[in-house]
Amino acid sequence: MAIKMLFTPNGSIAVAGDLSELKLVDSTGQPIDISGETKIWLCRCGASKTKPFCDGSHETIGFRAADKAAAPG
Ligand code: FES
Repeated sequence: MAIKMLFTPNGSIAVAGDLSELKLVDSTGQPIDISGETKIWLCRCGASKTKPFCDGSHETIGFRAADKAAAPG
């Protein structure tokens, strides 16, 4: 199954699908273990204390995301 990334309203990026095909690495190139996970939520507000994962902090800071995605580039 293809990996799907859902930009939730004013919240995280939900990533679901066959995550065994997804390689998640930090800024130093170290792999982030997501083995056994079928869905993960990535922070896009910048406030999470468990980056790159969402810890719900977007709710306490009142994060507001764009309603629509911009074109790449
Ligand atoms: S999106 Fe949830 S803590 Fe940042």
